[in-house]
Amino acid sequence: MLNKTALLLGASGLTGRNVLQLLLNDSLYTQVTIYVRRPVKLSHPKLIQQVINYETLDTALEADDVFCCLGTTIKKAGSQEAFRQVDLVYPLRVAALQLAAGSTQFNLISAVGASEKSGIFYSRIKGEVEQALQRMGFPQLNIFRPSIIIGERDERRTGEKIALGMTRVIAPLLIGSLRKYRPVTALAIARAMLHYAHAAEQGIHIITSDQIQLFEQVSR
Ligand SMILES: NC(=O)c1ccc[n+]([C@@H]2O[C@H](COP(=O)([O-])OP(=O)(O)OC[C@H]3O[C@@H](n4cnc5c(N)ncnc54)[C@H](OP(=O)(O)O)[C@@H]3O)[C@@H](O)[C@H]2O)c1
Repeated sequence: MLNKTALLLGASGLTGRNVLQLLLNDSLYTQVTIYVRRPVKLSHPKLIQQVINYETLDTALEADDVFCCLGTTIKKAGSQEAFRQVDLVYPLRVAALQLAAGSTQFNLISAVGASEKSGIFYSRIKGEVEQALQRMGFPQLNIFRPSIIIGERDERRTGEKIALGMTRVIAPLLIGSLRKYRPVTALAIARAMLHYAHAAEQGIHIITSDQIQLFEQVSR
Protein backbone atom coordinates (compact mmCIF):
# COMPACT_ATOMS: atom_id res chain seq x y z
CA MET A 1 0.00 0.00 0.00
CA LEU A 2 1.28 3.46 -0.92
CA ASN A 3 0.52 6.91 0.51
CA LYS A 4 -0.14 5.81 4.04
CA THR A 5 -1.17 8.05 6.91
CA ALA A 6 0.18 7.69 10.44
CA LEU A 7 -0.90 8.74 13.90
CA LEU A 8 1.85 8.99 16.52
CA LEU A 9 1.28 9.20 20.28
CA GLY A 10 4.14 10.36 22.51
CA ALA A 11 6.03 12.24 19.77
CA SER A 12 7.68 14.53 22.32
CA GLY A 13 9.27 11.64 24.21
CA LEU A 14 12.67 10.02 23.80
CA THR A 15 11.53 7.19 21.53
CA GLY A 16 8.65 9.12 20.00
CA ARG A 17 11.01 11.83 18.74
CA ASN A 18 12.99 9.19 16.86
CA VAL A 19 9.86 7.58 15.45
CA LEU A 20 8.61 10.99 14.31
CA GLN A 21 11.83 11.75 12.41
CA LEU A 22 11.76 8.37 10.67
CA LEU A 23 8.09 8.73 9.75
CA LEU A 24 8.65 12.20 8.30
CA ASN A 25 11.59 10.92 6.24
CA ASP A 26 9.71 7.84 5.07
CA SER A 27 8.19 8.13 1.59
CA LEU A 28 5.58 5.48 2.44
CA TYR A 29 3.88 8.00 4.72
CA THR A 30 2.37 11.11 3.17
CA GLN A 31 0.84 12.46 6.36
CA VAL A 32 1.90 12.14 9.99
CA THR A 33 -0.39 13.39 12.75
CA ILE A 34 0.86 13.66 16.30
CA TYR A 35 -1.20 13.95 19.47
CA VAL A 36 0.59 16.21 21.93
CA ARG A 37 -0.12 18.06 25.16
CA ARG A 38 2.00 20.99 23.96
CA PRO A 39 3.10 21.64 20.37
CA VAL A 40 6.59 20.40 19.53
CA LYS A 41 9.04 22.84 17.94
CA LEU A 42 9.04 21.28 14.51
CA SER A 43 7.38 22.03 11.24
CA HIS A 44 7.29 19.79 8.20
CA PRO A 45 4.97 19.63 5.20
CA LYS A 46 3.76 16.16 6.23
CA LEU A 47 3.31 16.96 9.92
CA ILE A 48 0.00 17.78 11.58
CA GLN A 49 0.09 18.58 15.28
CA GLN A 50 -3.07 18.10 17.33
CA VAL A 51 -3.05 19.36 20.88
CA ILE A 52 -5.36 17.02 22.76
CA ASN A 53 -6.37 15.86 26.20
CA TYR A 54 -6.44 12.06 26.40
CA GLU A 55 -8.91 12.23 29.31
CA THR A 56 -11.61 13.70 27.09
CA LEU A 57 -10.60 12.38 23.67
CA ASP A 58 -13.63 10.89 21.96
CA THR A 59 -12.91 11.23 18.24
CA ALA A 60 -10.64 9.45 15.81
CA LEU A 61 -8.87 10.67 12.71
CA GLU A 62 -7.85 9.15 9.43
CA ALA A 63 -4.72 7.07 9.96
CA ASP A 64 -3.73 3.72 8.51
CA ASP A 65 -1.04 3.01 11.09
CA VAL A 66 -0.92 4.03 14.75
CA PHE A 67 2.38 4.28 16.65
CA CYS A 68 2.16 4.44 20.44
CA CYS A 69 5.25 5.71 22.28
CA LEU A 70 3.26 7.05 25.22
CA GLY A 71 4.43 6.34 28.70
CA THR A 72 5.35 7.70 32.09
CA THR A 73 6.81 6.50 35.37
CA ILE A 74 4.95 5.98 38.63
CA LYS A 75 7.14 8.68 40.19
CA LYS A 76 6.45 11.20 37.43
CA ALA A 77 2.73 10.39 37.25
CA GLY A 78 2.40 10.65 41.04
CA SER A 79 0.54 7.40 41.68
CA GLN A 80 0.04 3.90 40.30
CA GLU A 81 -3.43 4.91 39.11
CA ALA A 82 -2.09 7.94 37.21
CA PHE A 83 0.61 5.76 35.65
CA ARG A 84 -2.06 3.25 34.59
CA GLN A 85 -4.00 6.02 32.84
CA VAL A 86 -1.04 6.95 30.64
CA ASP A 87 0.37 3.50 29.95
CA LEU A 88 -2.90 1.59 29.64
CA VAL A 89 -6.10 3.65 29.52
CA TYR A 90 -4.92 6.24 26.96
CA PRO A 91 -3.42 3.75 24.47
CA LEU A 92 -6.54 1.59 24.67
CA ARG A 93 -8.82 4.61 24.25
CA VAL A 94 -7.01 5.67 21.08
CA ALA A 95 -6.86 2.07 19.84
CA ALA A 96 -10.62 1.58 20.20
CA LEU A 97 -11.40 4.91 18.50
CA GLN A 98 -8.95 4.28 15.66
CA LEU A 99 -10.00 0.67 15.07
CA ALA A 100 -13.62 1.80 14.73
CA ALA A 101 -12.45 4.51 12.29
CA GLY A 102 -10.57 2.04 10.08
CA SER A 103 -6.95 2.01 11.24
CA THR A 104 -5.50 -1.36 10.36
CA GLN A 105 -2.19 -1.40 12.17
CA PHE A 106 -1.25 -0.64 15.79
CA ASN A 107 2.36 -0.47 16.99
CA LEU A 108 2.85 -0.39 20.76
CA ILE A 109 5.97 0.07 22.84
CA SER A 110 5.54 -2.23 25.82
CA ALA A 111 8.52 -3.46 27.86
CA VAL A 112 10.64 -6.52 28.51
CA GLY A 113 8.98 -8.70 31.13
CA ALA A 114 5.44 -7.54 30.32
CA SER A 115 2.97 -10.01 31.78
CA GLU A 116 -0.55 -9.83 33.16
CA LYS A 117 0.63 -12.22 35.86
CA SER A 118 3.73 -10.26 36.89
CA GLY A 119 4.17 -9.36 40.54
CA ILE A 120 5.71 -6.06 39.42
CA PHE A 121 3.05 -3.39 38.92
CA TYR A 122 4.79 -1.79 35.90
CA SER A 123 5.20 -5.11 34.09
CA ARG A 124 1.64 -6.14 34.95
CA ILE A 125 0.19 -2.95 33.42
CA LYS A 126 2.29 -3.50 30.29
CA GLY A 127 0.99 -7.10 30.16
CA GLU A 128 -2.60 -5.92 30.59
CA VAL A 129 -2.37 -3.34 27.79
CA GLU A 130 -0.81 -5.96 25.50
CA GLN A 131 -3.59 -8.46 26.25
CA ALA A 132 -6.37 -5.91 25.79
CA LEU A 133 -4.93 -4.87 22.43
CA GLN A 134 -4.64 -8.47 21.32
CA ARG A 135 -8.33 -8.99 22.07
CA MET A 136 -9.33 -5.91 20.02
CA GLY A 137 -8.58 -7.50 16.70
CA PHE A 138 -6.42 -5.07 14.71
CA PRO A 139 -5.50 -6.72 11.38
CA GLN A 140 -1.87 -6.06 12.33
CA LEU A 141 -0.59 -5.56 15.88
CA ASN A 142 3.11 -5.13 16.56
CA ILE A 143 4.19 -5.13 20.21
CA PHE A 144 7.74 -4.04 20.98
CA ARG A 145 9.26 -5.11 24.28
CA PRO A 146 12.46 -3.12 24.81
CA SER A 147 14.79 -3.39 27.77
CA ILE A 148 16.10 -0.14 29.29
CA ILE A 149 16.15 2.62 26.67
CA ILE A 150 19.32 4.62 25.99
CA GLY A 151 19.15 8.22 24.76
CA GLU A 152 19.42 11.86 25.74
CA ARG A 153 16.67 12.94 28.12
CA ASP A 154 15.88 16.48 29.25
CA GLU A 155 14.81 15.19 32.63
CA ARG A 156 16.68 13.36 35.39
CA ARG A 157 15.65 9.75 36.03
CA THR A 158 17.93 8.52 38.79
CA GLY A 159 16.55 4.98 39.11
CA GLU A 160 16.68 4.41 35.37
CA LYS A 161 20.22 5.86 35.20
CA ILE A 162 21.48 3.47 37.89
CA ALA A 163 19.81 0.49 36.18
CA LEU A 164 21.24 1.61 32.83
CA GLY A 165 24.75 1.96 34.27
CA MET A 166 24.55 -1.49 35.81
CA THR A 167 23.19 -3.20 32.70
CA ARG A 168 25.81 -1.46 30.53
CA VAL A 169 28.59 -2.85 32.72
CA ILE A 170 27.20 -6.36 32.74
CA ALA A 171 25.88 -6.23 29.13
CA PRO A 172 28.66 -8.48 27.75
CA LEU A 173 27.64 -11.12 30.31
CA LEU A 174 24.01 -10.96 29.21
CA ILE A 175 24.05 -13.77 26.71
CA GLY A 176 21.63 -16.50 25.66
CA SER A 177 18.19 -15.99 27.21
CA LEU A 178 19.54 -12.98 29.17
CA ARG A 179 20.49 -11.08 26.03
CA LYS A 180 17.07 -9.42 25.95
CA TYR A 181 18.03 -7.40 29.07
CA ARG A 182 20.79 -5.48 27.28
CA PRO A 183 19.90 -1.77 26.92
CA VAL A 184 18.69 -0.60 23.50
CA THR A 185 18.78 2.84 21.93
CA ALA A 186 15.59 4.77 21.24
CA LEU A 187 16.74 4.95 17.61
CA ALA A 188 16.92 1.15 17.33
CA ILE A 189 13.36 0.88 18.66
CA ALA A 190 12.19 3.50 16.17
CA ARG A 191 13.90 1.67 13.30
CA ALA A 192 12.33 -1.62 14.42
CA MET A 193 8.89 0.00 14.54
CA LEU A 194 9.20 1.36 11.01
CA HIS A 195 10.58 -1.95 9.76
CA TYR A 196 7.65 -3.97 11.11
CA ALA A 197 5.16 -1.33 10.01
CA HIS A 198 6.52 -1.62 6.48
CA ALA A 199 6.43 -5.41 6.57
CA ALA A 200 2.66 -5.10 7.12
CA GLU A 201 2.28 -8.77 7.96
CA GLN A 202 -1.17 -9.58 9.23
CA GLY A 203 -1.58 -10.83 12.77
CA ILE A 204 0.05 -10.28 16.14
CA HIS A 205 3.82 -9.88 16.35
CA ILE A 206 5.77 -9.64 19.60
CA ILE A 207 9.19 -8.12 18.99
CA THR A 208 11.59 -8.85 21.83
CA SER A 209 14.44 -6.62 22.95
CA ASP A 210 17.09 -8.89 21.40
CA GLN A 211 15.24 -8.59 18.07
CA ILE A 212 15.24 -4.79 18.54
CA GLN A 213 19.02 -4.92 19.14
CA LEU A 214 19.42 -6.08 15.52
CA PHE A 215 18.34 -2.57 14.49
CA GLU A 216 21.25 -0.84 16.28
CA GLN A 217 23.39 -1.20 13.16
CA VAL A 218 20.98 -1.11 10.23
CA SER A 219 20.03 2.06 8.40
CA ARG A 220 16.30 1.59 8.99
N1 LIG B 1 12.56 4.28 29.58
C1 LIG B 1 12.88 3.04 29.53
O1 LIG B 1 13.99 2.60 29.83
C2 LIG B 1 11.83 2.05 29.03
C3 LIG B 1 12.11 0.68 29.03
C4 LIG B 1 11.17 -0.20 28.50
C5 LIG B 1 9.97 0.27 28.00
N2 LIG B 1 9.70 1.60 28.05
C6 LIG B 1 8.43 2.07 27.49
O2 LIG B 1 8.70 2.69 26.24
C7 LIG B 1 7.74 3.72 25.97
C8 LIG B 1 8.47 4.98 25.54
O3 LIG B 1 9.38 5.33 26.56
P1 LIG B 1 10.23 6.68 26.49
O4 LIG B 1 11.23 6.57 27.60
O5 LIG B 1 10.65 6.93 25.09
O6 LIG B 1 9.10 7.74 26.90
P2 LIG B 1 9.27 9.26 27.38
O7 LIG B 1 10.53 9.85 26.87
O8 LIG B 1 9.03 9.30 28.86
O9 LIG B 1 8.05 9.97 26.63
C9 LIG B 1 6.75 9.69 27.02
C10 LIG B 1 5.74 10.37 26.11
O10 LIG B 1 4.45 10.18 26.69
C11 LIG B 1 3.83 11.46 26.85
N3 LIG B 1 3.05 11.52 28.09
C12 LIG B 1 3.44 11.18 29.33
N4 LIG B 1 2.45 11.41 30.21
C13 LIG B 1 1.42 11.94 29.49
C14 LIG B 1 0.12 12.40 29.83
N5 LIG B 1 -0.34 12.39 31.08
N6 LIG B 1 -0.67 12.87 28.85
C15 LIG B 1 -0.23 12.90 27.57
N7 LIG B 1 1.00 12.48 27.18
C16 LIG B 1 1.81 12.01 28.14
C17 LIG B 1 4.97 12.46 26.95
O11 LIG B 1 4.47 13.73 26.60
P3 LIG B 1 5.01 15.09 27.28
O12 LIG B 1 6.27 15.46 26.52
O13 LIG B 1 3.88 16.04 27.09
O14 LIG B 1 5.30 14.77 28.73
C18 LIG B 1 5.97 11.88 25.95
O15 LIG B 1 5.63 12.26 24.64
C19 LIG B 1 6.92 3.86 27.24
O16 LIG B 1 5.70 3.18 27.09
C20 LIG B 1 7.76 3.17 28.31
O17 LIG B 1 6.96 2.59 29.34
C21 LIG B 1 10.59 2.51 28.54
